[in-house]
Amino acid sequence: MAPDDINDPALAAAVDKQRRIWAKEAKRYDRQMAFWERVLFGDARAWVCAQASGDVLEVAIGTGRDLPFYPPDIRLTGLDLSPEMLAIAKDAASHIGRTVTLKEGDAHQLPYPDESFDTVVCVFSLCNITDMRKAIAEMHRVLRPGGPLLLADHVISTNPIARGVQRAFEKLTIRLAGDHQTRRPLPIVTDTGFTIERRQRDKLGIVERITAHKPSCPHDSGWDANDHRRRDETRACDAPTPHWPMPDCHRALR
Ligand SMILES: C[S@@+](CC[C@H](N)C(=O)[O-])C[C@H]1O[C@@H](n2cnc3c(N)ncnc32)[C@H](O)[C@@H]1O
Repeated sequence: MAPDDINDPALAAAVDKQRRIWAKEAKRYDRQMAFWERVLFGDARAWVCAQASGDVLEVAIGTGRDLPFYPPDIRLTGLDLSPEMLAIAKDAASHIGRTVTLKEGDAHQLPYPDESFDTVVCVFSLCNITDMRKAIAEMHRVLRPGGPLLLADHVISTNPIARGVQRAFEKLTIRLAGDHQTRRPLPIVTDTGFTIERRQRDKLGIVERITAHKPSCPHDSGWDANDHRRRDETRACDAPTPHWPMPDCHRALR
């Protein structure tokens, strides 16, 4: 069930502030982002979008910089808090002839029923969404079981000197744009119950890409293929149909 309106006044005020920030930033966003893509983010957008399929929700789609990278046969919905960013995304979509349903909304309370998308994408935005944990819980809610969550973001570096620079820089970026430099979504993604399929860190660990999926049976919950936190093979599985990736419980049933 979609959560009711945000009834936390502090969160509602922070979201309003973000909306005002992006109303001002929208015009210069593409130019600034193009710079960071060249020096830091590399092919992260292509990596993420190539894995999307079916009914795809991009949370905080911004000006639509991912649009050219999606496969042509997906059905794309893009949500963002900022009407100014969405207006640019609309132009970008018509410029490249991409059909997309754009909607103004808040990542903390996605305006969609449970299990309504095959894929959920969020790129360079969990650094900016006020309550990252709430937003990831919402992504989990609207994703169909077995479906992938595809993320890329700048996160806290693995390098101590870079971390120091990030901490200093963050004092400015949080104030100016609500943008955090020292967050890391990965542990929250696992805590929320996603299973991590692939993850990759580049550029002193500052850029992290994640492919996770929403498990469709209890065996498949909350493990990380990369650090050997394996699935719990002792729990009974009553999932009606096999699913991808096929856990051992279903292999045994076949
Ligand atoms: C750094 S931009 C990234 C935009 C886009 N994902 C990209 O990769 O270029 C952050 C975006 O997050 C959006 N945003 C911030 N808080 C949000 C919220 N609570 N719900 C939805 N969108 C939000 C902003 O409006 C902005 O478009």
